[in-house]
Amino acid sequence: MFVIDPNLSGTETTDAVPAPDPQLLEGAKVAFKQAYAPYSKFRVGAALRTPDGRVYLGANVENASYGLGRCAEQSAVQAMATAGAREFTDLVVYSEATPPASPCGACRQILFEFSPDARVVCVNQHGDVVSGLVRDFLPHGFRLEQRDDGHKVGTE
Ligand code: THU
Repeated sequence: MFVIDPNLSGTETTDAVPAPDPQLLEGAKVAFKQAYAPYSKFRVGAALRTPDGRVYLGANVENASYGLGRCAEQSAVQAMATAGAREFTDLVVYSEATPPASPCGACRQILFEFSPDARVVCVNQHGDVVSGLVRDFLPHGFRLEQRDDGHKVGTE
């Protein structure tokens, strides 16, 4: 996992910090503006790319019944899967938080379902970055492997 922690002088890293992909950053900012977050007032935008180059966006969408709110990452995965895609290679999550918001636990599992090896780059308006592979964010993630004889539990 690569981190720029603004509390650590803004330059401390555990490794080279990948810059967010410009196209995905732009998409995540577009989605951020569309976020429906009247309750938390905390907007999040996400953009992911599938191996064929298509880009899908997601914003958080909240609800008066608070528990029904959906995160930006989940919205992006829903858009991707609804279009028939089943894999993504890169995801950018944009928020105006310091440090930048990283996917919640539920979203980590949702991301892991499709692409444990995808690169996640979380970024804010200052360019602070938290990044890693999906599997870095969710060690030992839960999977069901489809077999002829049904589902088999698998972990990675
Ligand atoms: N949220 C996201 O959409 N993605 C994250 O990575 C963190 C949290 C949303 C959920 C809720 O609408 C708001 O941010 C505050 O938790």
